[in-house]
Amino acid sequence: MTKPIIADDAALDQAVHLLRQGRLVAFPTETVYGLGADAANAEAVGRIFAAKGRPADHPLIVHINGAGRLDDWAEFVPEAARRLAERFWPGPLAIILKKRPHVPDAVTGGQPTVGLRVPGHPVALRLLEKFGGGIAAPSANRFCRISPTTARHVEEELGNSVDLILDGGPCKVGVESTIVDLSGARPRLLRPGRISRVQIEEVLGVGLELAAKAGSLNVRAPGLMAVHYAPSTTALLCPSGDIWETLRQLIAQGRRVGLIAYHRAVLPPGLAHTLHMPAEAYDYAQALYAALRETDNLGLDMIVIEQPPESEAWHAVNDRLRKATVPAGSAIPGS
Ligand code: TXA
Ligand code: MG
Repeated sequence: MTKPIIADDAALDQAVHLLRQGRLVAFPTETVYGLGADAANAEAVGRIFAAKGRPADHPLIVHINGAGRLDDWAEFVPEAARRLAERFWPGPLAIILKKRPHVPDAVTGGQPTVGLRVPGHPVALRLLEKFGGGIAAPSANRFCRISPTTARHVEEELGNSVDLILDGGPCKVGVESTIVDLSGARPRLLRPGRISRVQIEEVLGVGLELAAKAGSLNVRAPGLMAVHYAPSTTALLCPSGDIWETLRQLIAQGRRVGLIAYHRAVLPPGLAHTLHMPAEAYDYAQALYAALRETDNLGLDMIVIEQPPESEAWHAVNDRLRKATVPAGSAIPGS
C-alpha cells in the first residue's frame, strides 16, 4: 500500500525519477489530485488506464508548465488559445487543440486532438519544472468514482496501484477544470468548472457552444457521461421545498438516510447523518467531493442532497451534483 508523502524537494526528485522510469505518480493540483505519467511514454500512459480501470479510448489531459509549451503538443495554436492561456494559466482551465503527430494515441484516445493545461498548484508546477516534459493525468480515482481532493482520498482509491502519492494538502477549487474545445470551427464548453462560461466568453469575444447542445459528440468524454462522479450509495438531488417531506417518507420506510444540506432548515427526526454545506458557491465546490465521499463511506441506504442555488456561479457544482445523483422522484417509492 502506497502512503502519501509530503511533497518536499526530496519527494519531488523521487517523483521525477519514477516518472522517467515510466511509473505512476499522484500529485496535487488546485482542482483535484491527478494520476500522472510521462505523456511522451505510451507504455507509462497505459498504466494509468490499468490503474483506473478506465476504457482506453478516453483521452487524458496533458499538464505542462507554461503556455510556452503549447506548441510542443499542439499542431496549431489559435490566437484564442493564447489569450485564454494568458488570462487563466496557471489555473483550472483545460484547452483542447489539434495535436502534433508525435502525441501518443494512448494520451488522446486515438483522437486528432489533445487536452492541455497549466495547473495552478505550486507542487504540480515544481514537479513539471523538474520533470521537464508533459505529464498526462486524469483525476486520481478509479473509473466512475468520486475525484480525490486530498492525498488520503488518493490512497483510498489507488493505494495499491500508484508508485508515489505526493501530499500537497487539500485542493482549493475542488471540482475538475473547465474544458474549452478550440479544435473546431466554434469554441465549445465541454465541462463547466471554476472558470465560468461568461469569463471565457469575455476573453474570446464570442459565445461558447455548450457540449450538451452541440449535437452528436464524436468524442468519448467521461466528464460528459451521466454516471460519472457517482458515489456507490444511491444519491438523490432534492429541491429545498421538498426536503422535509422526502426525508420524512424515506425515514418512515425504514431507510438509513444521510443528508447533505444547504439551508439550515428544520429537519425531520431520524436522519442517520447530516452534513451542512457552505453557503457560497466556491466554498461549496471545494467541500463537495469530500462530503460525498464521507457520506458514501457510512454505508447508508440513501444520500439525499438538498439542491443548492442554480445561478451561473453554481454551474459546475450543479453539473457534478446531477452526475452524482438520480433525478428527484425516481428513487422514493418502495424500490
Ligand atoms: O482538473 C482537471 O482537469 C483534473 C486535474 C488532475 O488536472 N483532471 C481531470 O482529468 O479531470 P480527467 O481525465 O478525469 O478528465 C479529463 C477530461 C475528460 O472528460 C476527457 O474526456 C477530456 O478531459 N478530454 C481530454 N482530452 C480530450 C480531447 N482531446 N478531446 C475531448 N475531451 C478531452
Ligand atoms: Mg475524472
